[in-house]
Amino acid sequence: MKKTLTIIAALAVALAAQAQIKISVHEKAEDQPRIPAEIYGQFSEHLGRCIYEGIWVGKDSKIPNKDGYRTDVLKALKDLQVPVLRWPGGCFADEYHWMDGVGPQENRPKLVNNNWGGTVEDNSFGTHEFLNLCEMLGTEPYISGNVGSGTVEELAKWVEYMTAEEGTMAELRAKNGRKKPWKVKYLGIGNESWGCGGDMTPEYYSDVYKRYALYARNYDGNRLFKVACGASEDDYDWTKTVMKSAGKKMDGLSLHYYTTPGWDCDKGSATSFTPGQYYNTLARAAAVEEIIKNHIAIMDAYDPDRRVALLLDEWGTWYEVEPGFEPGHLYQQNTMRDAMVAAVSLNIFQKYTSRLKMANIAQVINVLQSMILTDGPRMVLTPTYHVFRMFNVHQDATYVPVSYRPGMIHSPDGNVFDNVSVSASRDRKGVLHVSLANPSLEEPMDVELKFEELKPGKVSGEILQAPSIDSYNDFGKDPAVTPAAFRGKVETSGKTVRLTLPAASVVVLEVR
Ligand code: AHR
Repeated sequence: MKKTLTIIAALAVALAAQAQIKISVHEKAEDQPRIPAEIYGQFSEHLGRCIYEGIWVGKDSKIPNKDGYRTDVLKALKDLQVPVLRWPGGCFADEYHWMDGVGPQENRPKLVNNNWGGTVEDNSFGTHEFLNLCEMLGTEPYISGNVGSGTVEELAKWVEYMTAEEGTMAELRAKNGRKKPWKVKYLGIGNESWGCGGDMTPEYYSDVYKRYALYARNYDGNRLFKVACGASEDDYDWTKTVMKSAGKKMDGLSLHYYTTPGWDCDKGSATSFTPGQYYNTLARAAAVEEIIKNHIAIMDAYDPDRRVALLLDEWGTWYEVEPGFEPGHLYQQNTMRDAMVAAVSLNIFQKYTSRLKMANIAQVINVLQSMILTDGPRMVLTPTYHVFRMFNVHQDATYVPVSYRPGMIHSPDGNVFDNVSVSASRDRKGVLHVSLANPSLEEPMDVELKFEELKPGKVSGEILQAPSIDSYNDFGKDPAVTPAAFRGKVETSGKTVRLTLPAASVVVLEVR
């Protein structure tokens, strides 16, 4: 019976889909925001095999490495141009004591990772290992400070240790092998302080935030960007209270939003799902737009000049753990469905960058919606990796507004979302890029792009599609999901470009 209903629901979706869309590209619009590169941010947490095995294998490992960092992953991350990397958590951050992770590795304490499966944490990857990694990748570090179980003094000294030129903390850093301070911009004052980060009320947290933030000082030209813990999903009361009480003392406010196939947090399998569950997942991903808009409206009431940034510093799909893996390690595969979620989400984020200044997908390797998966010495790039790499053309580009009247896809759980996802930008060289996604599993979509003035001469692009929506890249097999040059017919005539997006595909066009 359930199966029949799902099939009927999927058919209803297919029938409701429209196969044509006219998109006006307003490339002449003035005063548009720059799309911060940080919208393409990543998150690394001491969770499962994200840090250990995923990034850090240690110098003595048989896995090829450079000073302990695995070389295959380093290359993949460099190619991805990661603008910002958040660390060490997540929930892990509020039980992390940074002093455990500095000094000779053999002297570092071994502790239980209480949040994530009770795994032994040997602290061999600590502050030096993280900040050196960021330097190697050319990535801005985003430190998530311990407010839940750490002291004000501990956080203050961590900042001093990382960024001061002189003083006892700088001497300790030099003794531990690093004379020159690092540059650290982003500092999170607590993570999910309403839950795993201290179980606080927004009123109480606001005072705590102000106290911790006050003593996190700027040393020697390093200017901290202090991020207060924000809401989960639609907890608008949290945003209101924290903005009212502490808005003037923060540079940014975070937000967390995860996508599960069911609205009741029903996770389902990462690789085995029905068309109905696919559409439910996409509807849930698209619903972030309303949530972002509502949080921005609240922030506007307290900060009309938009000085305080909104940072979606955790987002992505969250499914059941892969069978046979430790439940606390949150390891999940990554299919073409995840690629669609990534494309739809990134296109949404780019619309709100006058307030939304960063987004960090969870987590970069081996956990939730990861870019990279490893299995001992083997590594695969996920469909999500490819979307991020294709969309990189938008990093630091100027937003170009688009307008269109989308059809609606009705998901079986009673929600609706647009039957096309689109965003455009102009890069520093003046080249226009348009990113498009067709979420329909059945219908190709005829797209007409109409420019205000531009008469496109050359249009080229890349496409990501897969044999099936549940295709994924598996270890030891030829990758099933990889981008290719867009070979579909592209018609240009005057200011118009016409092309067809195959069902369940992501396309990024370069328009010259
Ligand atoms: O990403 C997994 C966990 O989800 C993070 O540690 C936490 O911040 C959130 O609840």
